[in-house]
Amino acid sequence: MKKYLKADLIYTILSNKFKDELDNYPTALRREKKFKYYLEMVKPKIALEIGTCSGMSAALIAMYAEKVYTIDTQNYPISKEIWEYLGIFEKIVPYVIGTEDRNGEKEKIVKTLEFDFAYIDGAHHYESVKFDFDLVKNKCKKILFDDYNYPTSPGVTKFLHELNGISNKILDGKNWFAYVEL
Ligand SMILES: C[S@@+](CC[C@H](N)C(=O)[O-])C[C@H]1O[C@@H](n2cnc3c(N)ncnc32)[C@H](O)[C@@H]1O
Repeated sequence: MKKYLKADLIYTILSNKFKDELDNYPTALRREKKFKYYLEMVKPKIALEIGTCSGMSAALIAMYAEKVYTIDTQNYPISKEIWEYLGIFEKIVPYVIGTEDRNGEKEKIVKTLEFDFAYIDGAHHYESVKFDFDLVKNKCKKILFDDYNYPTSPGVTKFLHELNGISNKILDGKNWFAYVEL
């Protein structure tokens, strides 16, 4: 297993290996330093991610956590290549949910899992963000959202403002991340 230091920039390492192929995937690893700031603060043991995509954010979380569950509506074969290449394949458990009853499937999966940190970065419209939050809020108290205040994701911002209005729980909201501790 290759050993990478937390000081290494995973996105740079992956860009050197996979080159332009990575340009096709949205990823929070383009804001890796800020992402690491949250992971260092939270110190997750077992994490749940909603929105796997290329697997880059799951890979970063796996550098901090013992195990990462990650759920997506699609399978992106590059994710397995990335996890193999970084030597963290065994720490990540991916789930691909179908398109028929994706929320029902997601709910069934999440109910079976135990985790202490959730990263919500799946569908970004209001109903979906609310659904994902409601799904994880009784399981863990530490939740990081991506795309808060991001111009094309007003649903994320609306949901977080509602949450903030109710309980003033957004601890930070910079670089399009928002961290909530319940
Ligand atoms: C912005 S990308 C995730 C990027 C990834 N977290 C990263 O930072 O490297 C959003 C992903 O959410 C997935 N997605 C869309 N709707 C979803 C849903 N209802 N539940 C779970 N994932 C969903 C998309 O297929 C896409 O791969």
